[in-house]
This record gives sequence, structure tokens and C-alpha cells, in this order.
Amino acid sequence: MCGIFGYVLNNVIKDRQSILETLFMGLARLEYRGYDSAGIAFDDDDGNIQIAKQQGKVADLERSVFQVKHIDFDHDFLYHVAVAHTRWATHGAPSAVNSHPHRSDVNNEFIVVHNGIITNFKEIKTLLEKKGYVFESDTDTEVLAKLVKFVYDNLKTDTGREPTFSQVIEIALREIQGAFALLFKSVHYPFEAVGCRRGSPLLIGIRTKHKFTTDEVPVLTETSDAGIVSINPGYRRSQSFLNFSSADGQTSPRVEYFLASDACAIVEFTNRVVELQDNDIAWISNGSLAIRQLRTEEVLSSSRRIHTLELELHDIMKGDYGTFMQKEIFEQPESVFNTMRGRLDFETESLRLGGIQANVVAIRRAKRILFIACGTSHHSALAVRALFEEAWEKPVFVEIASDFIDRKPPIFRDDVCVFISQSGETADTLNALRYCKDHDALCIGVVNAVGSCIARETHCGVHLNAGPEISVASTKAFTSQVVALTMIALLVGQSLALFQDRSRAIIKDLHMLPDIIRKVLAMNEQILTIAKECSKQQSILLLGRGGQYAAVLEGALKIKELAYIHAEGIHAGDVKYGPMALVNQARCIIFLALRDSHFNRTKAALAQIADCGAKPVVLCSIGDRAELSPFASSVLELPIVDEALQSVTSVIALQLLAFHIGVLRDNAVDTPRNLAKSVTVE
Ligand code: F6R
Repeated sequence: MCGIFGYVLNNVIKDRQSILETLFMGLARLEYRGYDSAGIAFDDDDGNIQIAKQQGKVADLERSVFQVKHIDFDHDFLYHVAVAHTRWATHGAPSAVNSHPHRSDVNNEFIVVHNGIITNFKEIKTLLEKKGYVFESDTDTEVLAKLVKFVYDNLKTDTGREPTFSQVIEIALREIQGAFALLFKSVHYPFEAVGCRRGSPLLIGIRTKHKFTTDEVPVLTETSDAGIVSINPGYRRSQSFLNFSSADGQTSPRVEYFLASDACAIVEFTNRVVELQDNDIAWISNGSLAIRQLRTEEVLSSSRRIHTLELELHDIMKGDYGTFMQKEIFEQPESVFNTMRGRLDFETESLRLGGIQANVVAIRRAKRILFIACGTSHHSALAVRALFEEAWEKPVFVEIASDFIDRKPPIFRDDVCVFISQSGETADTLNALRYCKDHDALCIGVVNAVGSCIARETHCGVHLNAGPEISVASTKAFTSQVVALTMIALLVGQSLALFQDRSRAIIKDLHMLPDIIRKVLAMNEQILTIAKECSKQQSILLLGRGGQYAAVLEGALKIKELAYIHAEGIHAGDVKYGPMALVNQARCIIFLALRDSHFNRTKAALAQIADCGAKPVVLCSIGDRAELSPFASSVLELPIVDEALQSVTSVIALQLLAFHIGVLRDNAVDTPRNLAKSVTVE
């Protein structure tokens, strides 16, 4: 949903212009997560906090900030803390006042940026209102800033001394329920920042020329819960902080910290990163970093490693493409290859999925497999269901996560539940996972985002390795999901003698898949021609059966998102039960008639709709043009591939179609209206 970014400067000279530019660079990278508004907070020349926020894009905010005449952009800072946010509205409409940062009071004593949701904000708000706090916005976030000030004021009065910044936040956090990543800044702690997370990601990038004394940041676990009056004094600084050894023996290290909800925002500044875990409170003070863990039932490791990010900047840049959407569609030969890399040995036809290898026997013994996901990820499960039934010969179910959560169906300890997600943060999928875990099912994650909640909370899993997907509408994640799930099916099916020939045929085509995808991408111009026709339509029907049913659902979703045209995916076998009433000469219809085990029935359905006067665009397998042309207005021949992988070729053709229609209609294809990349609320 939202994105948060923080930039902390310690003993490094930067002028205000470059500090603000850093903030906007970080924000621009996060914009894909949600983009109805943006805001920043930074220091003014007198030690106060300036907030600038407005509805609209990051670039709009950047323009307005740099136009403010009275700000001295050349002013140098040696120490500085700045925070920034892109918002996707959950509580409260998109507006400047609902945008983050939120503040404790008119003096901006404490300010906060937030990603996630505070579920008990109404109770806290009522309590604080009774204490005289006046709220400005309709958001859940604002209670955090005010609660922190309330805690600070009370601590000071009760103890007679200044609490540490992290003590204040720790006490406030104990009152908060929900899922969040938070970043706090305060005039009382001018060069300090506190970040914390529960259920939403938060990473800390570290850039310094000093040597790290360790690659581990120790975590303090002892907590004081004796209440406000008897707060423990500060951390034992020497043991508990990440320190740096500087050749010149400086006590205050030269270091910059970049805090963000996503590695995309950090990678161009540094690749040295600490990933916070749930209930971690990270306190940056005097250039050093300390992490404290709020006491929970779970025993977590006693330190956080400083990782080296493998994500390269070019992974997240558009390269030669005009949009991330186009780039991500065109990088699918590489992304599907990366999903298979190191796992499938095409020479020996051997397959090893390290993340689930130890559980393969348990999967084979299970009574049922349930795939649970949302949107595009749900469609990838539909695309592989038949293959699992074939390879496993047991019941396979595909569930929409939100519906699954509504029904709370019976789940047993001998069920295998597979959670598919690009972001690994989708709230409905995550809730379904927690439900299945509570019922002792074996939970497997098929996730792209490493370190995401679903990746961490599942018992085992397979990462997609498709690289970052920036465009809001999912493309390369779908094809990598189909490939990853196909590999799982092959692994499960290894114990079934009757499946072995089929398995070999699929492995052969997986080997060729990157080249097959290149051939589909080479049809771009033909697809553009069809898109020009479709772009004038008000409604598009897409028909297919078998694996192509998943493809038409996904194609329709892409057209809705990118083209803002009503589009509906219909099972070709179901069209005679009602949708046929929509079919006529004028209707735009896309019919998937690839050569598979249902081909004759598909052709019969095509003939039926042609009898009703329709002239669909037909996508078929190479060699079938002559046979299907009599029923079609135009025919697109797709390269031949095993039936199990046909959804990959047809969906890529439909992705291109939707992309071109979106561009022809002047839509912002990377950031479709009303949508956000990861949906972290129910
Ligand atoms: C559609 C799209 C969404 C996502 C859905 C689930 O283009 O991107 O339908 O597929 O929000 O997201 P993940 O896969 O991150 O769980």
C-alpha cells in the first residue's frame, strides 16, 4: 500500500537541496505501492520541523517544494533527519490533510509516517480526545503522533527526566494493535530517528566509509513493563549499538541511514541493509543503530544481520522502455528462466526445489491441495490445477483468498495449502495463511518478494526469482508463478509412473520456454494492430476453456486494469448457458482456441458463436489458421507449447494487447487509477 522512506545524516555535510533530492528519489521508487498523495518532513534552520504534503504524484510535491521561495536550499547540515511517504488511502479520503507525515500538534513536536493499518485507532483517538487532543485528519495514523506526544509528556512529568526516544516509542507501541511499519522524528530528539514494524516490512540501508565492527546488529530483548514511572535508563550503548570503527578515531561516525518499506528505495544509495523483524524498534542516535525487540511469545534471533542486497539499480529502472509495464512484459524470457535456474537440469531432466525438497514426501501423502491467492496470482493457480490433478491424482482446490477467509472452510492437518503471491504482503492471502497454519496444515509459499510476510510465515516455499515487479498490474509474476507451480507439480508427480512421459515432455518445453516467449513477444506489431480495433470498444468478451480459461480471466483483468474497458473472461463451455445472449456481430470477442485436449469442443463453441453472427479475434496454435479463419475476423497464431504451459503464451499475448490498448487510450499503464501494488488491508 503506502511507502515510507527516511534519510538520516550523521556527521556528513549535505545541503538542503541534496537532502530533499534524496527524499524525492526514495519516494519516486516507492510510488508504485500507492500514489494518491505524498509528503515529506525535514528540518528548518531553527531546529523546527517543516512538513510539506499534498494530494497527487511525488513529482507534483517535488515541484511545489522546490518552488517555495523562503526555503534556503543551500543551507548545509551535518546532522539531519528527514522522512517521506507515499499514500494510498485506507482511512480517510485522499487529501493534503490526510496525507502523511502526521503530527502530534501544531508545533510538529512528533511526526510519523506509516504503512499499514491501526485497528484500535478509534479507541485511542477517543481516549486522547478526552485528554484534549484535537485531531486534524480522518486517518488511523494521526493517533500515533498524538499518542507518542502523550507518552512523552507523561514520562517527563512522572520521572522528572528526559526519556530516550526509543523508550517513548516502545511504550506507545504497546498500546497499538494492527499491522504497521512506522518512522518517527521529533524536535525533542533532533538528530535521532526511530523506526519499527509489525506485519509490514521496514529495511534500513547503511552507507558509510567506516568499517563495520560487526555484520550483526545485536538485539536487546529485555523489556521494562513496570509502567511509565519506572522506565529503564537507556540502552547499554557499547554492547547494544551497531558501531563503526573509524581510522581517525572519531566518536561520531560519518554515516547515512536510509529507511524504507521496500529495497527498491534503498538500492541506489547503498546495498548494505538490515531487515527489521516484527516488533523490532530501531533507534538511530548519534550515528549508531540499536535494535530493541518488544517482548512477544515468539523467540526471535538475538541479532539482525547486515545483508548485501543483490538487487541492482538496473533491475528497477525502466531501461530502454517507456514504462515498467512494457519492460516487465518484455523481460519474461529472462524472468521465467530465472525461476528455473539452478532448479531444473535439462540435460539430466532432474529437478530440485531446495525450499520444499524436505517436504515433498509430506506433500505426496497429503489428502488435498488447496491453492489460495488473489487476483493474478489466483489465475496462475487456475492455470496449473489440471496439471496437479494429473500429476497427483488427488483433489485440488483453487480458492480466492478473501472468499476463503469469509467462509473459513474446514482445513485439516493432512491438507497442503499453497499461498501464491507476488508481493508476499497481500492481507487476504496472509490471513488465509494464518488460518491454515492454525489448523495445522502444511503451508507452502510461492512468492516473489524475498523476506515478505508470506515468505516468512509459510513452513516452506519456492521463490519466483522473477526480479522486482514495479508496474502495478502484474505480468511477469504470473508467468513465473505458472513455471514455479509447474515445477512443484512435476516434483510431486515423480512418484507416479504413468506421469513420467508427460513430465519429460513438459521439462522439454520448459527448456524452450524463454525462446517460445521471445516468439510471442515478436508478434508485438500484429497485436498492436488488433489493439487499435479493440481500443474503440466499450466492452470485450474473452472466451477459452481448459488452461485457456485461466488465460481469459487474466487477460480480462489486464484489460480492465490498463484499458479501463469492461472485459469479461468466460469459460467457452459455459457460453451457451447465458453469455451467448451478449454475442452478436458488433461485439468485440477474443477467442482462445489453442490446440489442446479440448480443441474439438473449443472449436464447436467457436462455431456456435460464429453462428450467432460474431466474428472474434482468434488466438490459436501455429498451423490452425486455415481451419479457424472461417470463424474469425483475424487470427493470431501462437507458438506451439505443451498444454500445461499454454497459459504462458496466451497470457503474454493478452498482456501486450491490454498494454497497447491502455497506451492508445492514454492511460497511465504503470499506475492504473484506484489500484495499488500490494494490498495490505482486507
Ligand atoms: C493484477 C494484480 C493483482 C494482484 C493481487 C495479488 O494485475 O496485480 O490482482 O495479483 O493484488 O497480489 P500478490 O500477488 O502480490 O499477492
